[in-house]
Amino acid sequence: MLYMNEGDLSFVPSKSVFKDERALSFEYVPPSLPHREKQLKMLMNFFRYIAEGEGGLYQKALLIGDVGTGKTATSKLFGSILEELCRKRGEDFKFVYVNCYRERTLFLIGQRIMEALAPSLPTRGLSPQELLRMVVSLLKEKRFPTIIVLDEVHYFVKTAGQDALYNLLRILEGYYESEVRLGMLFISRSKNFIYELDDVVRSSLTRNIIDFVPYTSHQLMTILQERVKLAFKEGAISSEALEVIADNVGVDRGGRGDARLAIEILWRAGKIADMRGRGEVTPDDVREASSFIHPAIRIEDLKSLLVDEKVALLTIAKELKRGIAYTRMGAFKDRYRSECELWGLRAKKHTQLWKIIKNLERMGFVTTKTVSIGRGRTTLIGLPSIPAFLLEKEISKLLIEDIGGKGVEH
Ligand SMILES: Nc1ncnc2c1ncn2[C@@H]1O[C@H](COP(=O)(O)OP(=O)(O)O)[C@@H](O)[C@H]1O
Ligand SMILES: [Mg+2]
Repeated sequence: MLYMNEGDLSFVPSKSVFKDERALSFEYVPPSLPHREKQLKMLMNFFRYIAEGEGGLYQKALLIGDVGTGKTATSKLFGSILEELCRKRGEDFKFVYVNCYRERTLFLIGQRIMEALAPSLPTRGLSPQELLRMVVSLLKEKRFPTIIVLDEVHYFVKTAGQDALYNLLRILEGYYESEVRLGMLFISRSKNFIYELDDVVRSSLTRNIIDFVPYTSHQLMTILQERVKLAFKEGAISSEALEVIADNVGVDRGGRGDARLAIEILWRAGKIADMRGRGEVTPDDVREASSFIHPAIRIEDLKSLLVDEKVALLTIAKELKRGIAYTRMGAFKDRYRSECELWGLRAKKHTQLWKIIKNLERMGFVTTKTVSIGRGRTTLIGLPSIPAFLLEKEISKLLIEDIGGKGVEH
């Protein structure tokens, strides 16, 4: 397969098309976000009091929209704008970004907030409630201008439950008159989750909703053009090549309107051009890159999985790659044990492993169903619409990054 070298970092092409590849990475937040001016302005209006040094108001906003519509990037850009405004006033702005795919409990979230507010205060041994109380008293006492972002909050509700979200929402109840300068942003890709909430939680969360709609081809074209200026050498990619991406992904052309997907295709097309040492990305490189990317595999989401979850998912991908629709729990467990050995990891016991599978299912990476065999029942594990071989490739790469090269020879 020609594509094989693409993730190999030791491969340095003689004349790369890239000027700065980092501008295409997941963590990168561009200095401006075309077509998100309205959303940023709304955020600015909701949270103006934080930058202006007033207190006592405690606002919340909910950012809702499909994957790749710029929710995370907008919240982070907003954070850096506020930071700059506060800096001008000589104030230390606290921006707490929590991804609920990683921080899944009230305790972990509380810890994350404490790390940002007062990294030297010990939090070990505290209960989630005690942690939150500490957070509140710090906010009151120091009047830090603070924004807390809970990204993928629907997942937090799924794992920690509504009560946990309710506790967080009420973090400042009874302190409304006090001089706090806190704003909370909640982000979710799922509209459905709003309807599943109890009335109290819902009405508290949905007072300020900011919608993010999928991008059109035209919008994607400007987004890509801006990004190309940062990431590619001049003249290394033609606008025709960009048009192929924008037209493929644009929502008005039947695509997902997902900017992440568009940028990923752009990056891979650049890698293909580099591999062939051509110094220029052609429309055909773009088409080839698109054929290797599956929109349902969000590397960003895969990245946030824990190592044990990644190994379990890799095991499933390897099993299903053999051409079967489902793998049985028993077969999976055997294969999982040898996979762990390969990576030098300790295999999880049955109960833990079961939890891992259930988590993966909740996150939408696997599907399960129970069937009768003989006199007993067994669980079958399958994949949603994700090709097993692509999943295998992506997770292997991420695991190598996590573990550092151990177990590469599989
Ligand atoms: N309007 C935009 N302009 C420039 N880049 C954008 C824009 N919207 C999204 N992106 C980029 O697309 C990718 C996905 O955006 P992200 O904020 O992660 O989407 P979401 O959180 O809604 O899934 C990121 O790399 C982001 O920088
Ligand atoms: Mg996001």
